[in-house]
Amino acid sequence: MITERLHPINESPVWARLHQHQRATRHVHMRELFAQDPQRFDRYSLQLDGLLLDYSKNRLTDRTLELLLELADAANLGQWLQWMRRGERINISEGRAVLHTALRLPADASLSLDGQDVVPQVHAELQRVCEFAERVRSGAWLGHDGQRIRRVVNIGIGGSDLGPLMVAEALKPYAMPGLAVDFVSNVDGQHLAQVLAQCDPTSTLFIVASKSFTTPETLLNAQAARRWLVAAAGEAAVARHFVAVSTNAEAVRAFGINTEHMFGFWDWVGGRYSVWSSIGLAVVLAIGAEQFRQFLAGGARMDRHFFETPFERNMPVLLGLIGIWYNTFYGAHTHAIMPYDHGLRRLPAHIQQLDMESNGKRVGRCGERLDFDTGPVIWGEEGANSQHAFFQLLHQGTRLVPCDFIVPMNSHYPLEGQHQVLVANCFAQSEALMRGKTEAEVLQELAGVSGDELDMLLPQKLFPGNQPSNTIALDQVTPYSLGMLLALYEHKVFVQGAIWGVNSFDQWGVEYGKQLAKRLQAEMAAGGGGSHDASTAGLLRHYLERKHG
Ligand code: F6P
Repeated sequence: MITERLHPINESPVWARLHQHQRATRHVHMRELFAQDPQRFDRYSLQLDGLLLDYSKNRLTDRTLELLLELADAANLGQWLQWMRRGERINISEGRAVLHTALRLPADASLSLDGQDVVPQVHAELQRVCEFAERVRSGAWLGHDGQRIRRVVNIGIGGSDLGPLMVAEALKPYAMPGLAVDFVSNVDGQHLAQVLAQCDPTSTLFIVASKSFTTPETLLNAQAARRWLVAAAGEAAVARHFVAVSTNAEAVRAFGINTEHMFGFWDWVGGRYSVWSSIGLAVVLAIGAEQFRQFLAGGARMDRHFFETPFERNMPVLLGLIGIWYNTFYGAHTHAIMPYDHGLRRLPAHIQQLDMESNGKRVGRCGERLDFDTGPVIWGEEGANSQHAFFQLLHQGTRLVPCDFIVPMNSHYPLEGQHQVLVANCFAQSEALMRGKTEAEVLQELAGVSGDELDMLLPQKLFPGNQPSNTIALDQVTPYSLGMLLALYEHKVFVQGAIWGVNSFDQWGVEYGKQLAKRLQAEMAAGGGGSHDASTAGLLRHYLERKHG
């Protein structure tokens, strides 16, 4: 078992040196850094197969990067990368390997886990998924009364929803016309009810997507959908209209889905990393096998870059280190993600789960208490809408909020001039956040204003600037570039977790709320009881008094 590094990273000498360096450089304005170095963009940007990462608008100098790279060495990052790559059990608390990267390996690769090559298994399951999807898309797979499938409903939550939903939305330009794909996740009945209102029982295919097949939200929605189908078409219709994606064949069988219509994956694929597995079935149905393989190839391209490139030119490593610089050494609590692409609007939500469920931990991988902040709060919204919502705070608020801007250079929907406006807005925001507006500039704007009015207006029109951001530019959102982008974020999260010393692959924190909800449900059914704090007891009483029926 890997029990590497029992000494927390904050005890390493470079940690203290980074704190000193932050104190010494925190007043340096990025405007000055750009003025001093006309090559800053060239030196602080990287390109990989049409994906550009510009990290020049950060509060970084060569010395900062040198120290951050030393931090990576102090945390033994190189070793952790290789351990993940070759399938060591780095998810210590669950005794599991972490091999979502194996899902993206080409068929001629090999990777041995417990003496077995996992690559043939991965490709065999991928082949099953692709063949099934092609049967549905071509009309070879029909509904119970011979109708073609026109609508797919993926029922899942967390990683069994956010990844496929985000990818399916982003790749809509590649979707087959005439086959709608919906996602139902919330146990709130209105979610399923609203989707069912659009469905025809003769032409709808339900995918019950759950790694564990025990998640109550998913099972309740799946049972409700099943009842709806059976009421309209009878029990025999279930076999043609329900398939499952899971690692739990027994529970799938118990639910009443033939395991021939179940697509599997493995315990070494975490839920939030599972869109590359059979959990991507809804995506394959939408965009087809060929395009899904391009998505996998994009992920694999980023994997090779991550595993094989020296850290000073390694995109995920640099993004991870820059994030740590603000999070740990500047005390920035949040990180905003702004895709300037309507199709990518669910990316912030997906990265939120990826990052916060992975690195939202207060103890190290061996159970030791950590005395420093770990994972940031991830949030964000599509641009340009976000500019009209919360950018005021980014420009003139009191907090340091590092941002990622993501923007394609070309649109699939080239309405006259509009994409150029979108890109200009994206670049303008990072420029404004970086440079701010000086007193001299504001005074020029306010020429002719004087006295009390000038005193009142001048401070309000100042922009401090020095707000850091990364810009990730894709040539276009394609299955391949999206694969690269998503793998970039996965590895960034890995880098940060490895350096902070947390296990990025378990999620014990979500269990407690689930246990208490179960207890409350039982008490609600029994009409009360149980021992709670006064607030929870009062809320329970209020519910029981006010609920209809
Ligand atoms: O929220 C906890 C969690 O376990 C996530 O990690 C996971 O993605 C989600 O629930 C759904 O789990 P499952 O795929 O087993 O239904």
